[in-house]
Amino acid sequence: MEAIAHPFTLIGPFSQVLPMHGLPEAGPVADEALPVLDNAGVLVHHGLVIQVGNYEKLLEQALENGYQLEEVSQDMVLLPGLIDAHTHICFAGSRANDYAMRVSGKSYLEIARSGGGILDSVRKTREATLLELVDLLKKRCDRHLAEGVTTCEVKSGYGLTVEEELKMLEAIQLVNKHHALDLVPTCLAAHMCPPEHTDTRLYLQEVLGKLLPQVQEQGLAGRVDIFIEDTAFKEEEALDYLLRAKEMGFAVTVHADQFSTGGSRVAAEAGALSADHLEASGEEEIALLRDAGVVATVLPGASLGLGMHYAPARRMLDGGLCLAIATDWNPGSAPMGDLLLQAALLGAAEKLTTAETLAAITTRAARALQLPDRGSLAKGQVADMIAFPADNYKEILYQQGKLKPTMIWKKGLRVLSSES
Ligand code: NIG
Ligand code: FE
Repeated sequence: MEAIAHPFTLIGPFSQVLPMHGLPEAGPVADEALPVLDNAGVLVHHGLVIQVGNYEKLLEQALENGYQLEEVSQDMVLLPGLIDAHTHICFAGSRANDYAMRVSGKSYLEIARSGGGILDSVRKTREATLLELVDLLKKRCDRHLAEGVTTCEVKSGYGLTVEEELKMLEAIQLVNKHHALDLVPTCLAAHMCPPEHTDTRLYLQEVLGKLLPQVQEQGLAGRVDIFIEDTAFKEEEALDYLLRAKEMGFAVTVHADQFSTGGSRVAAEAGALSADHLEASGEEEIALLRDAGVVATVLPGASLGLGMHYAPARRMLDGGLCLAIATDWNPGSAPMGDLLLQAALLGAAEKLTTAETLAAITTRAARALQLPDRGSLAKGQVADMIAFPADNYKEILYQQGKLKPTMIWKKGLRVLSSES
């Protein structure tokens, strides 16, 4: 059979292209260091970026070689597709009741202790069929993609039995097969000790002995996560669990320092890819993560949902960390799920440069997920791209999430075109 021809396509002109390429991997980034190409275009082929540069020059080349042209007829600013490196969007049910209790004064941990919280979502997710979960997840993926997220991590963790965790991961795999949005699955069976178990160690052993081998065999996830907190799993057992998961070949990540410190030390000792949350982290934790090369993924949506302070993002960057920003979109602590809006609000509160905030949801988020093929627009990178109706990139954060991308390409193909 003959291979399907993939034409070279020149897309543009854009008022500005931000390739997000060549930035430092970690630490502060001044806006002056952010490459901005005016009147630029992108040449794509076979889903990949071939060249980014001056539109007139690329047009000459395109006309000479008979390349396809995809013309953009208004002022648009082009960025790499956004990457959401931490979500729990595979779930059933709503926790609007929890939210109402929280805003009237009950704490997240109090609600969890009285049977609400994560275990409430576990009950509802267990009750859902595989196809119901697929449908719910698909709708959330549609929304994320329309808002410019082209790669999204998704955790299990509302099943908490071998069978139910596998059901969640299968739902994620099924949606991933058919949706334009790329999903990165993570096994979070160690989210909470399930009600059927009283001994967290025995539960973790079951996960290691029974669940993870099946996850691996069926190719359902290559990453393992654990929630370290008094109400979930303790530091020592978590370290042991992560090291054993690593031995099996999983990459590991940690829900760390959300309410109390301890998790980031485990993340550093386990050589985790990222430590996520970090609202309670101080200088000591920042130094531990930096020395171990762990990406700090902060989750402003959880701070907004819980009415608590943000993670110290400015101090993290000044301390030399690679900072990613993700939504933590979940039914409990972070029900909103708007990555751009949350990044803009965190950036304003924490005094981040535009370059730092945009890097945290593109190239640095790609690093958190170990995806070196995306997050920037340069030769050989996946052509996941989003364009905003604006003539200057500074409009994007200035409008704090209200300015949405109106053109979206996934692997070089247009998936959204609501030009306005
Ligand atoms: O990252 N902190 C633990 N887990 C999730 C919350 C999940 C939930 O409340 O359903 C988080 O915030
Ligand atoms: Fe989370």
